[in-house]
Amino acid sequence: MRIIIIGAGGSVGSTAAEALEGRHELIRVGRQSGDIQVNIGDIGSIRDMYRQTGKVDAVIVAAGHGHFGPVAEMSGEQWMKGIYHKALPQVNVVLEGIPFVNDGGSFTLTSGVLNRDPISGGTCSASANGAIDGFVLGAAVDMPRGIRINSVSPGLLQNSVERFRGKFPGHDPVSSRRVGLAYCKSVEGVITGQTVLVD
Ligand SMILES: NC(=O)c1ccc[n+]([C@@H]2O[C@H](COP(=O)([O-])OP(=O)(O)OC[C@H]3O[C@@H](n4cnc5c(N)ncnc54)[C@H](OP(=O)(O)O)[C@@H]3O)[C@@H](O)[C@H]2O)c1
Repeated sequence: MRIIIIGAGGSVGSTAAEALEGRHELIRVGRQSGDIQVNIGDIGSIRDMYRQTGKVDAVIVAAGHGHFGPVAEMSGEQWMKGIYHKALPQVNVVLEGIPFVNDGGSFTLTSGVLNRDPISGGTCSASANGAIDGFVLGAAVDMPRGIRINSVSPGLLQNSVERFRGKFPGHDPVSSRRVGLAYCKSVEGVITGQTVLVD
């Protein structure tokens, strides 16, 4: 398969790349890194990426961020960061990508643990995760040409523990191997409309 991995150089995307490499042709995409550069917050940049890749069998997105902070101090504008910088960019990768994905291909988005196991300050990200998982469930029944769509929702990764030190009390970090396998299940398996939980 020809597989686009957006965020392939990141903590999450690299697990997908490691799990899939060797069996497939991977197109690694990042904001500044990778074979091709894209800003998924910019629809013109997404279109340009697909013009460069041409047809593919699968698209994985493992990029996006939200606002972190206590809900009582958060503005609506800050809450929208999760929509504008995580949920909507991933949705736009799907909407723009449908013509470029071969029959029977797939999209795999990335949400995260915070809408089922919350942490202090995580409301914005939890909301964005819920939007992504809801989009996947709704879109799966409408996807043309047998295209499948899923999301992977990992817990805090072992490789990210230092970065988020103190923010996830009591969370048991998940291995890169298990997160990578979740992307394999979505790309190489048969499921659609599902959120693959990695806890
Ligand atoms: N890390 C965790 O433990 C964890 C757990 C659950 C869910 N998640 C979710 O997984 C996603 C990825 O997180 P991460 O920890 O892997 O982040 P990361 O380590 O910072 O990596 C982000 C990757 O995405 C690329 N990227 C960032 N913004 C982009 C944009 N606007 N357009 C295109 N590419 C962009 C970066 O490219 P460059 O390197 O070229 O800038 C990088 O390759 C996030 O939505 C996060 O909420 C993470």
